[in-house]
Amino acid sequence: MVDVLLGLQWGDEGKGKIVDYFAKDYDLVARFQGGPNAGHTLYVGDKKVVLHQIPSGVFHPGKLNLIGNGVVLDPVTLKRECDTVASFGVDLRQNLFISERTHLILPTHRALDKASEGSKGQQKIGSTLKGIGPAYMDKTGRNGIRVGDILDKNFTTTYIKLRLKHQKLLDNYGFNEDISQWEEEFFEGLEFLRQLNIVNGEYFINEQISKGKRILAEGAQGSMLDIDFGTFPFVTSSNTISAGVCNGLGIAPQHIKDVFGVTKAYCTRVGGGPFPTELEDATGEELRRIGNEFGATTGRPRRCGWIDLVALKFACMVNGVTKIVMTKADVLDAFSELQVCTSYKINGKETDQIPFRLDKAPLEPVYRKFPGWDTPSISAKTESDLPSTMKSYVAFINDYLGVNVHYISNGPGRDQLIKVG
Ligand code: GDP
Ligand code: IMO
Ligand code: MG
Repeated sequence: MVDVLLGLQWGDEGKGKIVDYFAKDYDLVARFQGGPNAGHTLYVGDKKVVLHQIPSGVFHPGKLNLIGNGVVLDPVTLKRECDTVASFGVDLRQNLFISERTHLILPTHRALDKASEGSKGQQKIGSTLKGIGPAYMDKTGRNGIRVGDILDKNFTTTYIKLRLKHQKLLDNYGFNEDISQWEEEFFEGLEFLRQLNIVNGEYFINEQISKGKRILAEGAQGSMLDIDFGTFPFVTSSNTISAGVCNGLGIAPQHIKDVFGVTKAYCTRVGGGPFPTELEDATGEELRRIGNEFGATTGRPRRCGWIDLVALKFACMVNGVTKIVMTKADVLDAFSELQVCTSYKINGKETDQIPFRLDKAPLEPVYRKFPGWDTPSISAKTESDLPSTMKSYVAFINDYLGVNVHYISNGPGRDQLIKVG
């Protein structure tokens, strides 16, 4: 049995914290897409940890963690991350497994990401520059190198061949930065990776399913960053939606049960691209300050705005969301009035559907106003402690989406999560 947990907005919904909380009820946590562009924050005791590639179940003793074939893996970041995780006493040889089909991010992929973004000017995506796009391009272009290849005696030849190909592309861009230091770290990272558990991911996970184990697939990024269904071209390069679980892990769709969709009680986006409910005013500034909305991977300030139910309903539809987790409800404690976007006005016509090019549509969000919470939510422990105004806000969202919020997160801590409904 496989449940999925993924983001419904433009990323950073709080997936890491929720996976960490849910992990106790599962035997295996698996990442199925994305790479070190992700930054998933969780707390081990009072220590904050940001995971980029390792699944967020890793701090639970006895649980297995799999980096699936749909991920693109940077051995440099992985080594660094493993060192951090190991410093908490976690034995990664016991609980971390990596699919041999997972594609590698090469230093030249990072360079190509930088060169490509640099050439885009105003139209730049705002990539995290971790090499994600170029690595996935080599996968679909059938040039990429996979984790299993590093065990081959001809690996160096394969690497040099691809590196030379990349060099031509870099020359075309006029990119002439010295990346020899990156390459040195890359080879150190590969040495480290060779010592980890490299497995045939699809047999590994299907054996777990056959044994009746419970699996949680952990999404990265968010549904609105999906390569097919997001705000293209301002998206990432993988399928972030639930369909990505099947080809990102090698499992059949009938094994998937619940799809948990995580949304903030408001909305953020980091990087370029359309964001209909963005607040470029003092309220947006307040959301950023109180919500501490700065990227976990790049430190960039996140753009902030009200919750967008048009986008959320779309995300629920394409993912088949069965249960919603609402995070950062406590951040709204400070606001006396809240707004919820219920439709878009495009060229004077109201719609509750996402248009083909959200970035091209002259769009005005239509809002419904709600009173702020009458009492702070941060100290609430149970549903009955939650402010009644928050309950009305959530009831309206449940009604609009046709899917219910099952958990409300009211703080970054592991235990600040309340089951509702
Ligand atoms: P992810 O990428 O979806 O895992 O999310 P990030 O870790 O990038 O960003 C979420 C941020 O919000 C992190 O700093 C979390 O510690 C924090 N966070 C998560 N849930 C809550 C919550 O309910 N309230 C508050 N105040 N912070 C939260
Ligand atoms: P988590 O898993 C938020 C954004 C980047 C950029 C676009 C493409 O922490 O939610 P890429 O590096 O993939 O080429 O960037 O996607 N982006 C994210 N935004 N959270 C993330 O991951 C993101 N991963 C990528 O800012 O706009
Ligand atoms: Mg993040």
